[in-house]
Amino acid sequence: MAKKLFIKTYGCQMNVYDSARMADVLAPLGYGPTDDPAKADMVILNTCHIREKAAEKVFSELGRLKIDRDQRQAEGNDMIIAVAGCVAQAEGAEILRRAPQVDIVLGPQTYHRLPEMVARATRASAARRAAKAAGVSRKQLPPRPGVLDTDFPVESKFDHLPEATVPQGVTAFLAIQEGCDKFCTFCVVPYTRGAEFSRPVVQIAAEARRLVDQGAREITLLGQNVNAYHGAAPRGDAEWGLGDLIRYLAETVDGLARIRYTTSHPRDMEDDLIAAHAEVPQLMPFLHLPVQSGSDRILEAMNRQHKVERFREIVAKLRAARPDLALSSDFIVGFPGESEADFLATMALVEEIGFAQSFSFKYSMRPGTPAAALENQVPEAVKDERLQRLQALLNRQLADFNRQMVGTILPVLFEKRGRYAGQLVGKSPYLQPVHAMAPDAMIGRIAMVRIDGLSHFSLAGTVTDETAAAVSVPAAGVFSREARA
Ligand code: SAH
Ligand code: SF4
Ligand code: F3S
Repeated sequence: MAKKLFIKTYGCQMNVYDSARMADVLAPLGYGPTDDPAKADMVILNTCHIREKAAEKVFSELGRLKIDRDQRQAEGNDMIIAVAGCVAQAEGAEILRRAPQVDIVLGPQTYHRLPEMVARATRASAARRAAKAAGVSRKQLPPRPGVLDTDFPVESKFDHLPEATVPQGVTAFLAIQEGCDKFCTFCVVPYTRGAEFSRPVVQIAAEARRLVDQGAREITLLGQNVNAYHGAAPRGDAEWGLGDLIRYLAETVDGLARIRYTTSHPRDMEDDLIAAHAEVPQLMPFLHLPVQSGSDRILEAMNRQHKVERFREIVAKLRAARPDLALSSDFIVGFPGESEADFLATMALVEEIGFAQSFSFKYSMRPGTPAAALENQVPEAVKDERLQRLQALLNRQLADFNRQMVGTILPVLFEKRGRYAGQLVGKSPYLQPVHAMAPDAMIGRIAMVRIDGLSHFSLAGTVTDETAAAVSVPAAGVFSREARA
């Protein structure tokens, strides 16, 4: 009988990718997906540790799962419960101590070993069921062993993962780099994901071809520090940066219409990568480039290793290379020691640059990070108030950006059916959802769509040309800063 697997994913795109790969690892063991945890033979919580309350959310979810499992056991079934991801890495032992219902705790770098872990948990489950059937009382049942694997193994999980079996669809994620050596003083990622590591170009290209064979037309290259990529080149012992990798994928992977990458650090935004934005039409003119703050003093305290001026220079170069480029970013308000003047510098930078979309957060103290030990923490009420002001500005920029699309013609990659009969939903080059009437046969294809109107966060339009080139053509200058001012 086929076994059912339920995975709940928290956090960043890398976790989304990891969840897909865990499903791949478990498919040969007979596990297929379900979207109902109560029906699952195995549940994986793929967790995120980036901000507070993440761990608490995991524990309350585990409480709910225990109820589902008790119910399943009463019906003669069982459920393996696994906690994966960054909370598992940071607090693995604590999870097993506080939540004895958990069978498996595994970190982000060990999921290729899931089959062994599942085998151990399954043996333990079988032993318990046999004992129960033999009349052993609940208290005397053999314990669940609690498998813990939060190693940073020397071998790369990527060398041990099976080929992807669960198709990701028209748009797909591909991890090319993992981990982080930057140690921003607020951030847990270097501790939960480990040191920077880049996959070889050949391995990435093979995975990209498989994804395209399974129907992907757009691939987002992922890494915690994706533009620090430095992987082994296809021939010889050279290393390639991200710019060369993108050129290579664009040239050699037939049918790959769109390439994106995330998340970048301004420090690693080198000229060669910026040049790729001018050269490679498949590379979408939309870049997520977190700056965190507009104050040099705060950037320094955050250990971001660059000044505000450097960010301005990069943006200018990017816009020169690709005039239709739009930017998104991440911001933290209320970092320890942030004064009103520092915060106003962030607001001024946002006004100056103009972002199409952004994510903004209140600084959250993370155990074990240097910033958590700083004394001049900003009061919660001040953080709240600054976040509101920043978000009002960012939301206005988002609305302006979307509004200036009306009347333009954009290449749209259709992904799936919309809510209404005959309607499809796709994405613009700027990741805006676009609704238009189009036949199902257009799914997975790019059409030119005239944008007629806006609704909330999406655009509505009319297909003007179904045979648009697979590659989007820059509409020179239309979306540049000048046009928006
Ligand atoms: N590698 C990326 C970001 C990874 S985390 C980079 O270097 O930019 C995603 C975002 O979460 C960060 O950009 C930051 O804005 C936010 N973040 C990380 N740690 C945080 C913390 N302790 N408190 C608040 N926000 C945080
Ligand atoms: Fe975290 Fe900084 Fe690394 Fe990004 S660059 S993952 S914010 S330590
Ligand atoms: Fe969260 Fe880990 Fe990603 S902490 S943001 S899931 S790298």
